[in-house]
Amino acid sequence: MRRIAVLASGRGSNLDALQRYLDALGARAAATIALVVCDRASAGALALAHALGIDARVAAPSAEHAAQLGGLLSEFDIDLLVLAGWVRHVPDDVVRAFRGRLVNVHPALLPAFGGQGMYGARVHRAVLDAGARITGVTAHFVDETYDRGAIIAQWPVPVAPGDTDESLAARVLRVEHLLYPRAVQAVAAGRVSLDDQGRAVWTGDAPRRGLIFVPEPVEDHELARYIDDALDPRARS
Ligand code: GRF
Repeated sequence: MRRIAVLASGRGSNLDALQRYLDALGARAAATIALVVCDRASAGALALAHALGIDARVAAPSAEHAAQLGGLLSEFDIDLLVLAGWVRHVPDDVVRAFRGRLVNVHPALLPAFGGQGMYGARVHRAVLDAGARITGVTAHFVDETYDRGAIIAQWPVPVAPGDTDESLAARVLRVEHLLYPRAVQAVAAGRVSLDDQGRAVWTGDAPRRGLIFVPEPVEDHELARYIDDALDPRARS
């Protein structure tokens, strides 16, 4: 069982989705959330971690931050680092130490609409300003360059006429909650890893399909089935 640390700066809905997914997998879950780290005491993710009974710490964004974070990760014997709305730089030595074991979710289809400073509403605003008709969700390994690590999984989300930052963010977030936990499980289970060239390599049952547009309206459980079919058909059994 891999031990996950979730790093979160905000409300923590992806943390919640991951915990629910691992709970639903039960004995098939390849990982457990052992620690939540927030960069501020006011983060919703911190309260959520307490409510879920997960150990949680605040790591202040300071010069000591890197050492403090590194210390926490070894104290809690962490195998896998999961960024879920973490808006801070991840210290380079942590990135190096967790190479291939550090993942992030981005609310757009990388490499478009990514990079330093592209987070939260800014991403959706940029998508709308560009007139893009398609956005989506990307789960990826993290390396030293913002939003450029190897892509693990992506899922498309259509931009609707009249969308605002908020309406688009909500449509994308729903897909984050379905895709990201499955990508984390795949990494924890060793089904996908980072090779020496920095590419994501699947072993065994590789994803059968890439991007799939699912006609709206679609219930969460139906959408989850499509994502399972694409990423891990065995997850359904
Ligand atoms: C998500 O949209 C995620 O893609 C982005 O930050 C947001 C975090 O939301 N990196 P939450 O804190 O998980 O609710």
